[in-house]
Amino acid sequence: MRSLATRSLAVAVVLLACVAHAARPYRGGAVATAYPQASAAALEMLEKGGNATDAAVAAAFVAAVVGPYHSGIGGGGFALVHDGKTGETKVLDFREVAPKAASRDMYVKDGKVVPGLSTDGPLAVAVPGAVAGYLQLLKEHGKLPPSVVLAPAIAAAKKGIWVTPRYLTMGQGRLECLRKDPEASRVFLVKNAQGEYEMPPLGHVIKMPDLARTLGGIAKGGAKAFYSGPVAKAIADTVQTGGGVLTVDDLAAYKTRPRQPLEGSYRGHRILTMPPPSAGGVAVIQVLGALEKLRPQGMAFRDPEALHLYVEAVRRAYVDRAKYLGDPDFSDVPTARLVSPGHIADLAGSIDAKKATASASLLPPVPGAQGSTLTDKPAVLTPEPERKNTTHISVIDKDGNAVAMTTTVNYGFGSCVVAKGTGVLLNDEMDDFAAQPGVPNAYGLVTGEPNAIQPGKVPQSSMSPTLVFSKEDPKKVMLAVGSPGGSTIPTTVIQVISNVVDSGMDVARAVNEGRVHHQYLPDELWVDKWGLEPATLSVLEAKGHKVRRVDQWGDAEAVFSDPKTGLRYSASDPRNEGVALGQD
Ligand code: DON
Repeated sequence: MRSLATRSLAVAVVLLACVAHAARPYRGGAVATAYPQASAAALEMLEKGGNATDAAVAAAFVAAVVGPYHSGIGGGGFALVHDGKTGETKVLDFREVAPKAASRDMYVKDGKVVPGLSTDGPLAVAVPGAVAGYLQLLKEHGKLPPSVVLAPAIAAAKKGIWVTPRYLTMGQGRLECLRKDPEASRVFLVKNAQGEYEMPPLGHVIKMPDLARTLGGIAKGGAKAFYSGPVAKAIADTVQTGGGVLTVDDLAAYKTRPRQPLEGSYRGHRILTMPPPSAGGVAVIQVLGALEKLRPQGMAFRDPEALHLYVEAVRRAYVDRAKYLGDPDFSDVPTARLVSPGHIADLAGSIDAKKATASASLLPPVPGAQGSTLTDKPAVLTPEPERKNTTHISVIDKDGNAVAMTTTVNYGFGSCVVAKGTGVLLNDEMDDFAAQPGVPNAYGLVTGEPNAIQPGKVPQSSMSPTLVFSKEDPKKVMLAVGSPGGSTIPTTVIQVISNVVDSGMDVARAVNEGRVHHQYLPDELWVDKWGLEPATLSVLEAKGHKVRRVDQWGDAEAVFSDPKTGLRYSASDPRNEGVALGQD
């Protein structure tokens, strides 16, 4: 058998040739991830007789190695897993939680949020959930043993990863943060002639023997090799030495949370997505539901009138998010009401088809709220390409099992803290809480009381792994989709779904198309560089939208199963370095 590396290369070459074209058909399973190595590992699992879960988990562990700036075993995420045989869909929330010693005002001094504290360094670290999550998914839904599923990740860490353009831009964006942590500097940077740490050059190979050892321990010993013993001790010691609050008890107490999928529908297609503590799934259901009411005949692609309705629906969904969403185990989150037909009808009914509604008239911003949790940049960072992080994995196997998994360390390179001697890069997911209700976080998002910091609580998330089912058979997955992009995640998912359902686009085109985003605050309409033609923008501006051109955002990874032919197609966003693969 060819080595994984040779195979990844061959696959990458073939796929690069395919990226610009319509997705190609596969008779077997199909996968889409943001990295050639992760897609190759997923395919390898399918070819070894594994199912969609084996493939997704193998890809997630490889992603932890090859894309440390996006996700990793020091992070957490959400997954939807559909069983093709029983027609059932399960949801696992393995997102990080606030440590026991976390407190509501831990990032506030003299009444103001201290910039950087919730994004950079040890105090930003929440209790990681990825290892518990990946292994639980494998145990409950997979067919292959952890030793097989983790093997590609261990091999990748030993062999080393090369510094890609993405690595470079992500690292440049976080260079100062990485330099503050000696272990992160040692792992991710190189010393120059003056002995200072700087970004390694393009093509430079970074070996990760510590991470390989940690992954090897997990493959043999299971989650306890991470949540107790030397790895847990190293994580807690590193964090505490740097002034953070995470303890070995926090790690030992970590538990994943099974949840009920959030259900909605769009033009006859059943949709299952992530419930709270994700705010993304609620927005996906609300916006699609509102669009169906506002445009029962369907949406013409890029029709300015339809776009206006979309933007106004999104604006209102993000107002609900700011008002109501948080961890449902800690406050009364009215999820059922928010996605109910009555509420969606009210939301749609409040839209003025002629002109933009001022965001402040829907929910006035908190008076005096200013600044952001970040040190070095203005509040809204998501649109900056070098700041993109988080990753999504979509798989549908030959038996119709499907996984949509979004996983993250939050900001680029997480907190920039690596637990000494383990290779584990720790998240900065604490920033997804409201450091002070009303103050925007790193994504410019404003959240409220339900998202205030409490020990053991899950921070509100935008991550929206989503499954869209066939009209003909509401138990058969037609589309698995998700994306990174912080606050822009739900709108990326919504637009891919609309491109497929409304415009009948093949999945590659649906993923490639330009994007449009609003998030209530700031009161701006973001349009990416391929988003809209000037004539369309003029119509929107005439309606009162303040348009902001943004280079690009998101990284949609999607797999489509054609309900008519049973053939599968996969698409990896050309905005990033991933590839989509499948089995002939
Ligand atoms: O859970 C969330 O919403 C964020 N931690 C996701 C971060 C993200 O997607 C960043 N990408 N640009």
